[in-house]
Amino acid sequence: MTDSPARHDDGVRNLDAALAAVDQPWQPHRLVSVNDYDVKVVKLLGEFVWHSHPETDELFLVLDGELTIQLRDRDVVLGPGDVYVVPRGVEHCPRADGEVRAVLVEPQGTVNTGDAGGHRTSALRELD
Ligand code: NI
Repeated sequence: MTDSPARHDDGVRNLDAALAAVDQPWQPHRLVSVNDYDVKVVKLLGEFVWHSHPETDELFLVLDGELTIQLRDRDVVLGPGDVYVVPRGVEHCPRADGEVRAVLVEPQGTVNTGDAGGHRTSALRELD
């Protein structure tokens, strides 16, 4: 048995338990890895920074709340259950007017601020 509901000994992970352990927005935490990809949980609140990922697409899956992914030519609005892939190299700036809980899927080593850097850059965190 384990003390943490987010990481069971049997390898089962739970989204709700994982997100309950995340207390700050814009700080992705690794849920699992699959091959060369990380599946991350994250809370989003407020406006992020404009950036792109020159080397990779980035998948957003919204669990709760409404997430606007601002692109240079339009906004993509995601609600619970919606999935969107930002293509590699495309500038985007996520905005959440209320708290959003989301899952991100991207290659290991992908940095949240992409090519922009700055103070919002957050190293991937582990749940334990
Ligand atoms: Ni991004």
